[in-house]
Amino acid sequence: MTCKVGLLGLGTVGTGVAKILQDPVDRHPLLQEIEIARIGVRSLLKPRDVEFPDGYITEDLQSIVADPEIDIVVEVMGGIEPAKRLILTAIANGKHIVTANKAVIARYGDEIFTAAKEHGVYVMLEAAVCGGIPVIQALKQSLGANRITGITGIINGTTNYILSRMHAEGAEFENTLEDAQRLGYAEADPTADVDGFDAADKIAILASLAFGDRIKLDDIYREGIRTITSADIAWAKDLGFVIKLLGIARRSNDKTEKGIEIRVHPTLVPQTHPLASINGVTNAIRVEGDPIGEVVFSGPGAGSGATASAVVADIVNVVAALKASSKGASNEINQLMGCSHDRYA
Ligand code: NDP
Ligand code: HSE
Repeated sequence: MTCKVGLLGLGTVGTGVAKILQDPVDRHPLLQEIEIARIGVRSLLKPRDVEFPDGYITEDLQSIVADPEIDIVVEVMGGIEPAKRLILTAIANGKHIVTANKAVIARYGDEIFTAAKEHGVYVMLEAAVCGGIPVIQALKQSLGANRITGITGIINGTTNYILSRMHAEGAEFENTLEDAQRLGYAEADPTADVDGFDAADKIAILASLAFGDRIKLDDIYREGIRTITSADIAWAKDLGFVIKLLGIARRSNDKTEKGIEIRVHPTLVPQTHPLASINGVTNAIRVEGDPIGEVVFSGPGAGSGATASAVVADIVNVVAALKASSKGASNEINQLMGCSHDRYA
């Protein structure tokens, strides 16, 4: 069986995905059975880093989600609309979804997972949180025996890259932001990164999975790094701290009606703390749970290859599950694979 993928977006992440799928040798054997059928972009005139035969790339994204030949729609276009509408249409047309879009999942996860349940399809989102780090699968599967009590992390690569350079070189915020954009770490609108919206989306998704409660973005205290100056960094250094933008979610008896305290803000981290030495685009997430205690995941949180690694793993997992169940996605498999509506309800 060959599984046909419709790719919505051929930017930083989409190009990384295309490069892996065009070069499957010595990777997971199922990659030999996956092929890109069509690709949707905003402009056909833009130069591309990957080559496809004429007719593969289109500006008509609606035709991709309606294409009866396509099994899996991979949404790596970003933004809320038309991404959300295309995802819902694809689901209604019986297509499995792989998405890197934390903004859509954090806001419309309920609606999307309800639709997926109704139509018996998978929705996979590993790449939406911390690029190449397999933290979603870990929370859903490997740590499933634990009662999670807290998550603390550096979960935005752009701001960690900026703050690391400000610490190392005394650089100013604006110059480093341009570099982060050039390297493909920043969102299309970098406000999402520097003002903490991207980190808020990610901590909302992680907390929803960890605590089994849908987290509303309005419940998250959020503060970005825009106002941090080289003088603040120097003061922090003199006092034995580094400044990091952290996403924090923990069980609490008094902060919200759900008993979950959740926030994103620049934090003074002691230089001896393990998170203090996480620099550049690297992300790190510390998960505390009972009975495991503490486990830390770290790795590249953004960028073309790292994010594509998570997207392609999701595609492989869908194909593996479809092969295991000729009837299509069951709710049991959906839960196992980390795409259950129930954890968002
Ligand atoms: P880019 O801006 O680099 O690429 C977006 C792609 O989608 C482009 O090919 C663009 O077309 C296409 N596109 C966007 N809007 C439309 C539209 N309205 N109609 C048709 N095509 C459209 O984004 P990224 O690859 O960086 O990010 C994609 C997603 O992945 C986002 O949700 C982001 O949050 C997420 N993500 C990104 C990471 C990263 O490191 N960059 C890491 C983890 C997640 P065209 O090329 O013609 O402009
Ligand atoms: N812009 C995001 C970041 C991409 O810098 O972390 C990864 O989600």
